[in-house]
Amino acid sequence: MAGKIVRIAGPVVVGENLKVFVNEVVRVGELVGEVIGIEGEKVVIQVYEETSGMKVGDKIEPLGYPLSVELAPGMIGAIYDGIQRPLDVIRAKTGDFIPLGIDVPSIDRKKKWDFEPAAKKGDKVSPGSIIGAVKETPIVEHRIMIPYGVEGEIKEIYDGKFAVEDTVAVVGDREIKMLQRWPVRRQRPYIEKLPPDEPLITGQRVLDTFFPVAKGGTACVPGPFGSGKTVIQHQLSKWADADIVIFVGCGERGNEMAEVLLEFPELLDPRSNRPLMERTILVANTSNMPFAAREASIYTGITMGEYFRDMGYTVALQADSTSRWAEALREISGRLEEMPGEEGYPAYLASRLAEFYERSGKVKNLNNTIGNLTVIGSVSPPGGDFSEPVTQSTLRVTKVFWALDAQLAYARHFPAVNWLNSYSLYVDQLKDYYSQIDEHFVDNRNRAMAIMQQESELREIVRLVGIEGLSERDRLLLDVAGMIRNDFLYQSAFHEIDTYTPLEKQARMLNVILLFYDKALEALSGGKLLSELESSKLVSKISEMKFKEINEIEQLEKEIKEMS
Ligand SMILES: Nc1ncnc2c1ncn2[C@@H]1O[C@H](COP(=O)(O)OP(=O)(O)OP(=O)(O)O)[C@@H](O)[C@H]1O
Ligand SMILES: [Mg+2]
Repeated sequence: MAGKIVRIAGPVVVGENLKVFVNEVVRVGELVGEVIGIEGEKVVIQVYEETSGMKVGDKIEPLGYPLSVELAPGMIGAIYDGIQRPLDVIRAKTGDFIPLGIDVPSIDRKKKWDFEPAAKKGDKVSPGSIIGAVKETPIVEHRIMIPYGVEGEIKEIYDGKFAVEDTVAVVGDREIKMLQRWPVRRQRPYIEKLPPDEPLITGQRVLDTFFPVAKGGTACVPGPFGSGKTVIQHQLSKWADADIVIFVGCGERGNEMAEVLLEFPELLDPRSNRPLMERTILVANTSNMPFAAREASIYTGITMGEYFRDMGYTVALQADSTSRWAEALREISGRLEEMPGEEGYPAYLASRLAEFYERSGKVKNLNNTIGNLTVIGSVSPPGGDFSEPVTQSTLRVTKVFWALDAQLAYARHFPAVNWLNSYSLYVDQLKDYYSQIDEHFVDNRNRAMAIMQQESELREIVRLVGIEGLSERDRLLLDVAGMIRNDFLYQSAFHEIDTYTPLEKQARMLNVILLFYDKALEALSGGKLLSELESSKLVSKISEMKFKEINEIEQLEKEIKEMS
């Protein structure tokens, strides 16, 4: 039953004479909207496009399904907006300007894929069962799963080239197509959550060694303006050892997103040497696009992530920035004239954030495969003040906290992750994994962190009494802390080699620094002067380690062992 608009408040419109349900998609005039509230006769709708041309009295038409994403081969490499409209396809059709109300399917209906069955007639299947696969890109095999609600015996299954709406199998009396839909605000089901016990290797030393995130875990990257949130998330999208990467650019400046769009297609995956876009999906809702679609964008992204996790994959999702998402939520809540909570955010901010991060996890899927979805969100607290509501609500649910620091960024120490107040709650769970890389890994990490802690205390003393007040051993500690800072933690995202450090190399590098420390302590006890140690050529070799191959670092290790 069609209704009509009785009120317009920016992207929020109120309609009457409508039979709808919450989260149902509606056409408001020509535009797409979603029902977000029903109060008696009145239906509140958020509209995902610019509403300035809209008038009271315009028609509203319910479409009968909740806000959903389409799931099928053809998603990888796509660039979507917050409600999964394919920006790349639209652009090819209409140029840079996106016309209102454009109706382009999220997934190409015509393209044919080579479907290879993995099940046969007579097999019993249920939701999630993998019945075949399509080589979506040279590095991603898209597994075709039985959709939710379908169960029974395979009557027919075909082999050949199919478009996403063609029938590839028949189960009971249901025709199975590759295309599925899933409501974005509902978590996809799985059997159980499992404890995350493997790190998501990022090649970023301060993250992997000091503050690791587990596959299937959650992390947040809060940081003031210009502290490197976006660069870190780009680095993770490029280098994290995930099968599928989803990057949700949420309310960031258009030019940042443009950088991603220009840069990503050029990048190669270090594992497969194939273009990174062959395992990446981008969701872009920049600051100049309607903010209701921004609110939806993180759900669009995470639903796609869950779908690939269902296939048994390792998926990493980045959301940059969740503050911009929260602002969209606040804006909509304001238009609804809801009672504002802290700093104008709605009272449900914290629960919405928690629900979002809860969808991460390492899980046993319905089809018994194990998959994981890691969620990493950046937070941009105004003025860098971490006590504000979005940072605080995020902190309560994420298990890793990479605190970016204005002072470090100002001193151009990147990644500007503050080693004193960042943390990872996964270190214990990941111990076994790290011990396999290097039996001393975890001890070395803990020791290096303790050195950084001691350094900060010693600096306080130096500030009061001057460097002369310190013993040679304390001054050596400052030197070693400097090595950890400059030769290990500092890492340029823009240097060809330094941009990515394999975990084995990280372990060796840290080991070299700590070995040097032990040897230098011995030498001091033996009567050597600190100045002699400081001018050793080993020190400059240590500073070159990050650019060297692992065997050269092992060579350096030998030299240090022989040092006297
Ligand atoms: N790992 C890094 N290596 C080298 N330079 C870096 C690194 N991280 C950040 N930078 C420098 O800092 C600048 C700002 O980083 P970035 O754009 O990621 O900050 P941001 O926190 O996302 O800022 P905003 O709050 O504006 O979104 C970059 O353009 C780059 O010059
Ligand atoms: Mg940014």
